Amino acid sequence: MKIAIITGASSGLGVEFYKAIQKEAIDEAWIIARREDRLNEIKDSLSIISTRVIPMDITTREGIEALKALLDAEKPDIRFLINNAGAGVYGAIENADYKAQGSMVELNARAVTEITTLALPYMSHHSYIINTCSIASFAPNANLTVYSSTKAYILSFSRGLRYELRHRKINVTAICPGPMETEFLAVAGLDEGQSRAFDRLPRCNPQKTAVKGIRASKKGKAVYTPRFFYKLYRALSKILPTSLIIKLAKT
Ligand SMILES: NC(=O)c1ccc[n+]([C@@H]2O[C@H](COP(=O)([O-])OP(=O)(O)OC[C@H]3O[C@@H](n4cnc5c(N)ncnc54)[C@H](OP(=O)(O)O)[C@@H]3O)[C@@H](O)[C@H]2O)c1
Repeated sequence: MKIAIITGASSGLGVEFYKAIQKEAIDEAWIIARREDRLNEIKDSLSIISTRVIPMDITTREGIEALKALLDAEKPDIRFLINNAGAGVYGAIENADYKAQGSMVELNARAVTEITTLALPYMSHHSYIINTCSIASFAPNANLTVYSSTKAYILSFSRGLRYELRHRKINVTAICPGPMETEFLAVAGLDEGQSRAFDRLPRCNPQKTAVKGIRASKKGKAVYTPRFFYKLYRALSKILPTSLIIKLAKT
């Protein structure tokens, strides 16, 4: 059975990935998040192919072990693994809650690492791993220091994985959007008025990001960044000194 796994499918970009992936040559979509009711609502209203709802906290040992057990039992052919679940915490690190910072690392970095490692034995030639990264991966963002560090990890992880998996023809793409109007902003404490710099940034459209991100992955791209503004920022982040880009990227 050919499947797609999408984490963080209960809202925002994950829902758009779910809508878009159903047009691909797969038999079933596995959608993962903590809120089971939301996943069921999304399945009921949007499914056009068979869909398995997997309510799970991917930061917990039980969650990861349950996913491993499911994969071992079903032995699916994973054609798309979309590691999309993620969260941010806005604010100066010296005032931050240490547990929230640690949880963010577990969700954005550790869970992606573990789920990818678990999925690889079930991935065949010409399959795709899509990791939702961020423009925050291009340079450290003050006041989003831990978040941007986790996304830098994912960008580096994606590139290394891509190189390691080239002989299996498994393509790995990091999707690096700028701000999107999703639940992410409220969860991170980045509602309008919290950061003038962040409020001024152009918004990315989640639906276009998902559709174009999948297209970029199928074309074999390593990184996909929506919007010219952020493509330019990505290029500048490679050539400007880090001491300067940090000042420009402060939120
Ligand atoms: N929105 C932006 O401005 C922006 C910009 C660049 C990159 N991104 C990245 O885009 C990705 C998607 O974010 P979004 O904007 O769509 O935000 P969102 O609407 O808040 O979606 C986050 C998703 O992650 C799931 N999730 C959170 N914690 C989880 C956990 N412990 N276990 C399982 N699932 C969990 C949430 O579901 P439950 O709450 O039901 O678990 C939700 O489905 C993230 O990786 C984010 O870092 C967002």
